[in-house]
Amino acid sequence: MIENITVLQEILDDLLLKQTEKYCQGHVADYIPALACIPPQLMGISIATIDGNTIGAGDYRHPFSIQSISKVFGLTLAMNRLGKPLWQRVTMEPSGQAFNSIIQLEWEKGIPKNPMINAGALLVSDVLVSHYSASKLAFVSYLRKLANDESIQVDCEVYQSELSHGNRNAALTYLMKSFNNIEAEVPEVLSHYFTQCAVSMSCKQLSESLLFLANKGIDPKTQSQICSKKDAHRINAILSTSGMYDQSGEFAFSVGLPAKSGVGGGIVAVVPNIGVICAWSPPLNKYGNSVVGMNLIAGLAGKLGLSIY
Ligand code: DON
Repeated sequence: MIENITVLQEILDDLLLKQTEKYCQGHVADYIPALACIPPQLMGISIATIDGNTIGAGDYRHPFSIQSISKVFGLTLAMNRLGKPLWQRVTMEPSGQAFNSIIQLEWEKGIPKNPMINAGALLVSDVLVSHYSASKLAFVSYLRKLANDESIQVDCEVYQSELSHGNRNAALTYLMKSFNNIEAEVPEVLSHYFTQCAVSMSCKQLSESLLFLANKGIDPKTQSQICSKKDAHRINAILSTSGMYDQSGEFAFSVGLPAKSGVGGGIVAVVPNIGVICAWSPPLNKYGNSVVGMNLIAGLAGKLGLSIY
């Protein structure tokens, strides 16, 4: 796919140029007030390959709030820690509902549909809080190791903003606790979850840190086994069916890559055996997915024929 880096660079530059005005079609997330002031016109895209190249265009080195993209890292850690029993507490089915829906959780007796919706990620946060003596530190250290970058930080303003506007996430966690599906104290679970959502990373850092998912669980930069080959397949399967929330079907139909979005405007997409794409532009569509980010990834996947289907 990436035989010619100069050609790929031209493709990325061209895709970005075509999106210059498109950011106006979305709305920056303002339910987390600290996210509302991010300049909407920022945009970038990068692709990291398992053979060691990273190519980017636009603001691809600019850190942004990773938000729900953190759910991929949290899930990987929890699968490593808990193994099979994790799947008794959260299932792997698409939800077909908004990412923060409460109705479904009551209906499913406190067992979230999948780890990519908020309820599922709060459940995963409970696993991490219960299995690490300092889960927040473990999470951030994990990201620094995967990105090979010690500068990665939690944005304290975003953290505080989510903490003070997190009533819906608190409601989801208390509801799960009422069904005995949360072990730790709810405030501790929320604090971990908001910390992982508030991490700032760039497209470059994100695409490089998720390479293990494109490479059978092995980080090609260090050759370390981040998760088993089987778990890499499973995580990619969950990203394919649930990573783009209730737009996952459309994304599979039109792009055909395992992917995860976040309300900070980032989207990561795994191209098995090749690499990881990350696109960022803050304005979102009604599902909570970046408008320009979707266009950029769809454009690149279409141009290079990347669909896995
Ligand atoms: O809990 C929340 O609502 C946010 N911290 C994360 C949501 C999110 O990124 C959903 N993404 N599309």
